[in-house]
Amino acid sequence: MKTQKRLGILTSGGDCPGLNAVIRAVVSHATLTYDWQVIGIPYATQGLLERQAMPLHMHSFDLRGIDPLLNMGGTILGTINKGNTLACMDDIVASYQALELDALIGIGGDGSIAILSQLALHGNWQFIAIPKTIDNDVALTERSVGFDTAINTITDALNRLTFTAASHDRVMVVEVMGRAAGHLALHSGIAGGADVILIPEIPYSMQAVCRHLAELRDRWQRRFAIVVVAEGIHPAQDATYLANQKPSCGRGQYIADCIAKFSTYPVDTRVSVLGHIQRGGIPSALDRLMAAAFGKTAVDLIAKDQSNQMVAWQNGRVVAVPIEQSCRQSPLGVDPCSDLVQTARALGIYVGE
Ligand code: F6P
Repeated sequence: MKTQKRLGILTSGGDCPGLNAVIRAVVSHATLTYDWQVIGIPYATQGLLERQAMPLHMHSFDLRGIDPLLNMGGTILGTINKGNTLACMDDIVASYQALELDALIGIGGDGSIAILSQLALHGNWQFIAIPKTIDNDVALTERSVGFDTAINTITDALNRLTFTAASHDRVMVVEVMGRAAGHLALHSGIAGGADVILIPEIPYSMQAVCRHLAELRDRWQRRFAIVVVAEGIHPAQDATYLANQKPSCGRGQYIADCIAKFSTYPVDTRVSVLGHIQRGGIPSALDRLMAAAFGKTAVDLIAKDQSNQMVAWQNGRVVAVPIEQSCRQSPLGVDPCSDLVQTARALGIYVGE
């Protein structure tokens, strides 16, 4: 009976720091512990469709004995976050067979995991998912690979902006990623000393934002402020001014314009849109640990003949959860009653409502 597996691995959806560390962990464990072959599939399902295969070996990327995968951002496999994969299901299944894969590990966010899982059921593949996303909105895992590094990147930006804001008595509006979920804005806003944090899950009032900034100034003599805005917030109900904004106007600019317009004293605002800087960079120590633990467990699940499971971080442990259950509850936003929201408010941060 054949015991040496041919294990495929791919990265799908938007990139984030820590993907290469996951690939490294999977290749190391699959090779050292199980003596399996690991085949990288470039560009996710597109590469699968095109029958592209990239054999991965331990140390195949070493530079003078130094393994760069541990701290390299992005993904050496490349990735895609668009396309109509489900329209070519049969062709992808045929390609999977042609590549003679015995199992597949897919590293992705909620959207990618759902699609890969459908393909796996259709093709009867053995499939394990590893959650990654700077948005941290995959349900049933407290953490996804990439989230911690992105929080650190934003927190660093907020630290830098605080000094220039204070020097010029300005209100700095910082737009961060998060179309459906405000975890990034909430975590980094608290860590980076924000005065206002606006997230998609909690409605905000422009009047309350301006009142809060005025109080900082009048009561506490704080002449500058830091306002963190998630890109997916919804327009304020009480701001008629915004009806005239062009749809292309980002939410950060929108909020800055409103603050300047509705404040009862002159306010000098500046806007920083952090954009894809949040997706780049060297993975943090925590993301590398998550990558190692998730990669190791995913390989063990394959060895135990498990399928359609996602590795997840719960209560300080790596566990396996049915993909279908996670997909049903994803994307998972911030709970408006959570401890973190209450903490932010207790520290005097305006978080909406
Ligand atoms: O899903 C992760 C994410 O980082 C979102 O927060 C952001 O809106 C989106 O990706 C941007 O993706 P793209 O690479 O298509 O610009």
